[in-house]
Amino acid sequence: MHIPNWPVATDREHELLREVLESGRWGGHSDFVKRLEREFAAFTHCAQAVSAMNGTVTLEMALCAAGVGPGDEVIVPAISFVSTAMAVSRVGGTPVFVDIEPLSFNMDPDRAAAAITPRTKAVIAVHFGGGIADMGRLVPLAAERGLALIEDAAHAHGSEWNGRRAGSLGRAGSFSFQNSKVMTAGEGGVLTTNDAAFAERVWSIMDQGRKPGGGWFDHYTLGSNYRITGLQAAVLLAQLERLPEQICRRTRNAALLRAELSGVPGLALQTVPKQQNANSWYLLLGRIDAQDAGRTRDEFHRALVAQGVPCTPFYPHPLYGNPLYRQGGCRVEPCPVAEACIGDAFWLPHRTLLGDEETTREIAGAIIKACNEVFA
Ligand SMILES: Cc1ncc(COP(=O)(O)O)c(C=O)c1O
Repeated sequence: MHIPNWPVATDREHELLREVLESGRWGGHSDFVKRLEREFAAFTHCAQAVSAMNGTVTLEMALCAAGVGPGDEVIVPAISFVSTAMAVSRVGGTPVFVDIEPLSFNMDPDRAAAAITPRTKAVIAVHFGGGIADMGRLVPLAAERGLALIEDAAHAHGSEWNGRRAGSLGRAGSFSFQNSKVMTAGEGGVLTTNDAAFAERVWSIMDQGRKPGGGWFDHYTLGSNYRITGLQAAVLLAQLERLPEQICRRTRNAALLRAELSGVPGLALQTVPKQQNANSWYLLLGRIDAQDAGRTRDEFHRALVAQGVPCTPFYPHPLYGNPLYRQGGCRVEPCPVAEACIGDAFWLPHRTLLGDEETTREIAGAIIKACNEVFA
């Protein structure tokens, strides 16, 4: 089975890195950083993009720029990487964990609506695995209740909802360029928005309180140094050039895999809403339907890995199950779906969708064999 490695650098990364190295300007005010921000903004159908060290600080910057602070509640899904909640806690807010939908793996808009209180200031919608959260309901909900809707699009570079790209659907979009992401410089992040004043506040936080075009020693707001380097920007520009072709390849292979796996007893793959017309396919997500869910998913996982297919047996707990949040500092709504997923869900990384047709058929065969072994 020829499953490609990730990440991969080509001659283009080396060429652009050499340009930065020879430019005499390696730091965050490199032209390459500006070029990355321009090109990523255009890619996400946004007017502005502000790069930063990672997709955790871009969330923190978005929350700060939205005015979230001590005493404010922010609604987050119970299933995500910890940054979605930790960013809220870092700015002094209180994460409120709500349940996800059973097969989109995304925040349930009804549960989000039910969790709103007079203290609620924002909602963070995660587009889990590349599947867009139900923005058809979350956008009007946030607008009606006067809440900032922030997209955690760390998984969703290039995903689209009704022809509009992730990162352009809420007040701001937060992307990660960490090692496993669909475009990467090892670390990195970017915030996208169509709100010029919001972008200016974020830029100032990222660049030590300076103003765009202002003096180097003039600091107006409480910021920090979250700049990426020109070297990271060079790698990301090369990665961005290849991203559309890679999305096409993953989309083709995901369609083939889903067709091969349709009707396999006990297996349910992530649903793709009809409004979603493009998908990054960062993760291939599924659930194993069994009475003894934990044991069966773990057996499925072992059987798949034994055949050479990389697979992760989901998160070990909902976000509120982390020791950090077991001590408090959050509000937890009932989350039966999230809790069930801990025992029965799994994902395959996006590199499993980057191979050729034969490899994709072999992966489908391995999944079917693992299911047969588990349900035999
Ligand atoms: C959903 C989600 N949000 C935020 C992040 C944080 O990104 P970073 O690792 O770049 O800080 C990640 C990273 O894996 C993530 O999966």
